[in-house]
Amino acid sequence: MGRKESWGSGLGFVLASAGSAVGLGNLWGFAYRASQGGGGAFVLLYIFIVLLVCLPLLIAEMVIGRTTGSSPLTAPLKAGGKSWAPLGWLFLIVSVGILSYYVVLMGYAGTTLLHAFLGDLPLDKAAAGDYFPSISSGGVSLRGQLLSIVLTGVVVGAGIRRGIERLTKWGMPLLFIMLIGLAIWASSQPNAQEGYAFLFGWDWSKLTDPQTISNAFKQAFFSVGTGIGAILAYSIYLNSKSPIPGEAAAVVSLDTAVGLLAGCVTFPLVAILGLGDLVGEGSVGTLFSTLPHGLAITSLGLTGWVVSVCFFGLVFIAAITSAISLLEVPVSSLIDQIGWSRQKSVWVSIILIACIGLPSALDVEFLVKIDSIMNALLITSGLILALLVGWSKPKLLIEDLTNGGTPRERTNTFLWTLRWITTPAIALGLVIVLEETLRGWSG
Ligand code: TRP
Repeated sequence: MGRKESWGSGLGFVLASAGSAVGLGNLWGFAYRASQGGGGAFVLLYIFIVLLVCLPLLIAEMVIGRTTGSSPLTAPLKAGGKSWAPLGWLFLIVSVGILSYYVVLMGYAGTTLLHAFLGDLPLDKAAAGDYFPSISSGGVSLRGQLLSIVLTGVVVGAGIRRGIERLTKWGMPLLFIMLIGLAIWASSQPNAQEGYAFLFGWDWSKLTDPQTISNAFKQAFFSVGTGIGAILAYSIYLNSKSPIPGEAAAVVSLDTAVGLLAGCVTFPLVAILGLGDLVGEGSVGTLFSTLPHGLAITSLGLTGWVVSVCFFGLVFIAAITSAISLLEVPVSSLIDQIGWSRQKSVWVSIILIACIGLPSALDVEFLVKIDSIMNALLITSGLILALLVGWSKPKLLIEDLTNGGTPRERTNTFLWTLRWITTPAIALGLVIVLEETLRGWSG
């Protein structure tokens, strides 16, 4: 029954997919991983991984969605036969797992937006220290989580064209405009140079540092959001003639541009507080504790109000346009597999996801743990997807892209990259990420 829906236009699909990619990963994740060190080497590795690993994988994921026309749960089975069926379950588990804490983070963003709106972001250092703990625990956190998941459910429940496409069509342009405005404003701040120097500072040894490599991998996968069927679920409704490689390239470029621009907003701001604090902390709270304080003290009065409302408004829009793509994975699977209506599938999914997210809403430590587990599973799932499309069923890719008008030689180049660069690179990345994750837990 999902087949009756479709995108209003090619631009609608690109904006919705860019909306999925651009999210808390670009803002919260980028700030927190970049603040763990690595500087320019982290940024460079991240860009390389996006281009050579995530882009080919995104193309493969879109192809699987379009050729099978099936929800993420059954698409791998349809594409590759019975032995690939577990991949569909992995898609489902990882997307539900990620969404369960994603809406908690989105709740922090919503709460901070509210404080920005009321003009009471923490002004002095003591208040700043108490701020993050106060929004990330107890009733405040639960309220944010619930509101976020319900809002996400309302958009997804309205459907592809009337909900998802409609929201992303005005949300994404607004987000780009606000972000460019904020980056220009941040560049005029007194400590801007220091912030840029931290973000882009070069140190050769970091290129081979396992923590930097692992962070770059996690950041690239999470930010592009490929490997667990979210974009696959959007591609089901794609017209057979639309140019997948061009659309995937547009999505990835927008995502990377937003990540870098967001860094150019956040780092000058936190530099004002002294980067020592930030580097020392390097924690999940960077975006929600250091930054609100930085904003509150840099710009008082009306400018301060406008800047902080715009910034956290932007964070919230970015978060919801990503959350809807994650929710579409279980929802389209339920519609497809059990034949439930879209509304029923949405409500059952969000109740389940809210319950799974309770421990993350009540305890930040738990959230950090589940985030690192889900990141490792995301990369694992990406590897299996690359094996399915690149090695087991390359014909699907060739036929679908050729059909869609991509020249044959270009299709061959994609396939070659997917096989010989993307696949081994993900395997290597996965080993490094797993090693780093285990080392982090034991140390
Ligand atoms: N990419 C989004 C972000 O940067 C989050 C997201 C959406 C995601 N869909 C995904 C992450 C699929 C992993 C997999 O915030």
